[in-house]
Amino acid sequence: MYILGLTTLGDSAATLIKNGEIVAAAEEERFLRKKHYVGFPYKAVEYCLSEAGITLNDVEHVGLYWKPWIIGHKIMIALQSGLISRKMFQARAKRGSHQLHEKFLTMFRHPKHLRERFGESDFKFHFLEHHQCHAASAFFVSPFERSAILTWDGTGEDTTTLFSKGLDNKIKVLKRIKLPHSLGQFYSAVTNYLGFDMFGGDEWKVMGLAAYGKPEYYDFFAKRVLSTNGNGDFRYNIKVLDHHLALHYEFPEEIVKTLGPGRKKGEELTEHHWNIASSAQRVLEDTAIHLVKHIKEITGEENLCMAGGVAFNSVMNGRIFHETPFKNFYVQPAAGDAGCSLGAALMIWHQQLGNPRKFVMNHSYWGPKFSNGECRKALDEAGLKYETLPDEELLPRLAKMIADGAIIGWFQGRMEWGPRALGARSFLADPRRADMRSVLNDKVKLREWFRPLAPSMLEEYGSEVFGKEHHDPFMITVIEVAEEYKSKIPAVVHVDGSARPQMFRTDVNPRYVNLIN
Ligand SMILES: [Fe+2]
Repeated sequence: MYILGLTTLGDSAATLIKNGEIVAAAEEERFLRKKHYVGFPYKAVEYCLSEAGITLNDVEHVGLYWKPWIIGHKIMIALQSGLISRKMFQARAKRGSHQLHEKFLTMFRHPKHLRERFGESDFKFHFLEHHQCHAASAFFVSPFERSAILTWDGTGEDTTTLFSKGLDNKIKVLKRIKLPHSLGQFYSAVTNYLGFDMFGGDEWKVMGLAAYGKPEYYDFFAKRVLSTNGNGDFRYNIKVLDHHLALHYEFPEEIVKTLGPGRKKGEELTEHHWNIASSAQRVLEDTAIHLVKHIKEITGEENLCMAGGVAFNSVMNGRIFHETPFKNFYVQPAAGDAGCSLGAALMIWHQQLGNPRKFVMNHSYWGPKFSNGECRKALDEAGLKYETLPDEELLPRLAKMIADGAIIGWFQGRMEWGPRALGARSFLADPRRADMRSVLNDKVKLREWFRPLAPSMLEEYGSEVFGKEHHDPFMITVIEVAEEYKSKIPAVVHVDGSARPQMFRTDVNPRYVNLIN
């Protein structure tokens, strides 16, 4: 049985599963070359069907990651924040105020979109709750028979944080936190205040920058903006910092008084901005740890699965892994909304149809691959010189080039699922060269100087490099590097002495593991 899952409102993606196992999963942005693409994932669906060698008519169920009729609450909150901003109303009116409703209404036409493009088919279409899809995307492919599940993001239909529990092939919802109380929107508003693009993927920059600063404004953020209470709950005060207003660079008086005016794009980044980033990051981490301790209390489980955009905050994850009472953790590589397409398909297979679990996602290679013939053709068309070598010659030669200071574009096998380059589409360089970070950031990746690079390593060396056992195949945690290693691999050690590793077990991606060896 084939089931197709869809994400369409941002980070659009498609996932195809066959009898509960992933056949193909990919984000639309990779085909259109538009990051965080919003819209129907035609190309990703086309790819999924072709990877399986089937047509839409072979698909029995299609799951969408959203229930578009749950919008009342969302509009109320938007209005509430709009009431304190004339500018926002004006901006909305200019853009056409129906835009928001329009986006959700389009979802009812998705079955039609599919049939128009891919032919008649009698699939059954399911609208599924956003956060339950997030939860399913993690727990159902985790190695755990049972687990606590915490999902957190900007917002789903109206839920921003979901506490649930997975047991075998079922997920049970325990508790929800709804708008306006949102960790994701809090972090996005800070991102925008610091002059970066919120919801555009710039949230990473705030986290990278935080390591340079001191949490000078911690008390202000914790008391006035994002506060926890003793019941595993938190309050986000949109009167002080609201992402709706932040979108128009309009910040309430209290923020401006305490932190100064928001940084405009392109303005110089100063220590003051680092300190704001550091304070907001620290408050996010502490709030998250409070919630994780709470879900531990109400479930008593030893395992924790996480998903939702906030689960990409790898510094927060590092603290959760090492400072909370859970023993084992699982975050799949497409932890953001793209991953909901996977969750939607799995919700149908397990939760609705009651099928048992047998699949664990231990690698991220679920996207398109290219044959030697296709690569040769592309190289010929581009007029590039090339050689073809067997692995016994290729890998030692690459290793030597890397050691001699070269940067390698490593392109092999199926593309990664999720935003991280994990050894299928990666830049490779020597971590022992201190200047490698600025060379890569400036000349190759064309991004800010402060963005850290990540070490790719064999898991068996984890305790040596970090001074403790650590397991992270998907680069989703930041961990302190052992003192004696900091100076050995300076290009991948962040300013605060931490690193965000990708750790391989030898049975995953053997060719890449051979290269590392
Ligand atoms: Fe989400």
